[in-house]
Amino acid sequence: MRYRMTALAAAVAMPFAVPAGATDLEVTHWWTSGGEAAAVAELAKAFDATGNKWVDGAVAGGGNTARPIMISRITGGDPMGATQFNHGRQTEELIQAGLLRDLTDLANKEGWANLVQPKSLLDSCTVDGKIYCAPVNIHSWEWLWLSNKAFEDAGVPVPKNWDEFVAAAPALEKAGKIPLAIGGQPWQSGGALRVLMVAIGGPDVYQKVYGDKDAEVAAGPEVAKVFAAADNARKMAAKSNVQDWNQATNLVITGQAGGQIMGDWAQGEFQVAGQVAGKDYTCLPGLGMHEVISTGGDAFYFPKLADEGKSKAQEALASALLDPKTQVAFNLKKGSLPIRGDIDLGAANDCMKKGLAILAKGGTIPSGEQLMSQDSLNQINDLFVEFFNTPSMTPEAAQKRFAEIVGTAD
Ligand code: GAL
Repeated sequence: MRYRMTALAAAVAMPFAVPAGATDLEVTHWWTSGGEAAAVAELAKAFDATGNKWVDGAVAGGGNTARPIMISRITGGDPMGATQFNHGRQTEELIQAGLLRDLTDLANKEGWANLVQPKSLLDSCTVDGKIYCAPVNIHSWEWLWLSNKAFEDAGVPVPKNWDEFVAAAPALEKAGKIPLAIGGQPWQSGGALRVLMVAIGGPDVYQKVYGDKDAEVAAGPEVAKVFAAADNARKMAAKSNVQDWNQATNLVITGQAGGQIMGDWAQGEFQVAGQVAGKDYTCLPGLGMHEVISTGGDAFYFPKLADEGKSKAQEALASALLDPKTQVAFNLKKGSLPIRGDIDLGAANDCMKKGLAILAKGGTIPSGEQLMSQDSLNQINDLFVEFFNTPSMTPEAAQKRFAEIVGTAD
């Protein structure tokens, strides 16, 4: 999606005069599914309303593919005006190398510390007391998305938790359904493992493994239960022959699959397909086992640029991203929760309301991207895609390798 408007057309369309120095700014992100594209268009609209022009730099293939491209552009001297990353540890090296812009002055002027909730979001943008990113949402991974139609077709009730879901798998298979849809990209199976870690092992085990990098816990009996669940997951997903996460969501939307473990960005796809939460599909936070959600998400980072006009436009973009109106429009389409506590999300659907309620009672945990370096997470992702694709690899063998990775993780 590109927003090509001539300066004259832009001036005519704007209700106010275009500020001197208004400029084009290339913004990169990996939001290419239907729901994601609808959501990012809201950010572009908000930025264009400042008189500047959003030049869309979508990179397909998901975070694993897009992130290295974005990073190499910044390190290679061809920086974009702004880029999405997951807030957390993905930008540590870029910040250390002095390649990203310090937004502290703007953040102080606009009082971000008082309005961004939970506080951990801004902490994740902060290195040595300086703020380097503008958070735009809270996305949580810990959800099971279920097709009500698939269960109706199979003649079994929609499950209320992971155990019931596993028990329903034979009935789904008999009805010609794939019990669990999962795409082939490594981040999807690696993410599913973290979700199972919270749901089956509980938040403490999750924190010990991903936060404290405790190899003993990772090799122990609690995590063995998680690997037994992961073994069930891979058997249930044996016929799930898709790559992208949104193709897997589509199997659920169309009732070909029973469910998908995926972050709440899946909601954007249900919405674009015209499905209604609670009626057409059901969502189980924490897989119905431990009702907690992680408070990771997306944030925009701004490479240092020599051009003064573009640097000004970066500030206008950062401000627009946190604006209450942008927060409502964007998050309703993205399926994520706003980063401000003073937002009225009256139009939130059933699933977003569940997320907001969990947030309100403080049922939150840090995201994997906040706890562990992306290099270590990638090693786990690779192990997990191998586990899903290699039926002869036992859960015990996979757990042993997992514990070794955790032992050397940072
Ligand atoms: C995540 C990102 C989400 C969502 C997802 C799939 O990393 O935080 O916003 O877009 O990838 O593309």
